[in-house]
Amino acid sequence: MDIHSKIYQDLTRVLVTREEIAASIKKLGQQITNDYQGKDLVVVCILKGACIFFTDLIREIDLPLTTEFMSVSSYGSGTSSTGVVRIVKDLDRNIEKKNVLIVEDIVDSGRTLSYLVSVLNQRHPSSIRIATLLDKPARRVVDLQVQYSCFNIPDAFVVGYGLDYDEKYRNLPDIGILSPKIYESAD
Ligand code: IMP
Ligand code: MG
Repeated sequence: MDIHSKIYQDLTRVLVTREEIAASIKKLGQQITNDYQGKDLVVVCILKGACIFFTDLIREIDLPLTTEFMSVSSYGSGTSSTGVVRIVKDLDRNIEKKNVLIVEDIVDSGRTLSYLVSVLNQRHPSSIRIATLLDKPARRVVDLQVQYSCFNIPDAFVVGYGLDYDEKYRNLPDIGILSPKIYESAD
């Protein structure tokens, strides 16, 4: 899909291009490959937002890893966190004594991941780390260690490359700032 397609008209602008995303994921994959040499690695995709990032990232990790999928709901259809997190789909396998890498699309308030890390820690993994595509540090309300991050972004609502607004825009190949008129008219 190219940036002249109609769906791009709902963006104020493109914030991170597909080329920048690919280059950053390649570097991150190399770093993770180095850090987990000789370790039992389980990479956990947080559905749905992280799915595109996850499929690109695992192909840049040169290790015999396994994959898991988990779905949590933290937001309704709006653009800000409720603080209420619910597990919609849990992991299929036990993570005891495994090294868990959680792959998330974006860390905003940090509430979702903070909750997830505490839940997964109760299952006694060897380690838990977080890899996020995007980080909005200005919005953090809880203390959360994020070990791997591709891009720090400003406090704006973004869509594309897996990230949605009201389940739409996930299929944009680039990441863009959603035009406020799209969600203001919905409120
Ligand atoms: P947190 O619990 O506030 O850190 O929210 C994290 C979740 O909120 C992410 O996994 C996203 O699903 C969603 N989210 C936060 N900011 C954005 C954004 O700018 N665009 C799309 N989704 C977002
Ligand atoms: Mg979402």
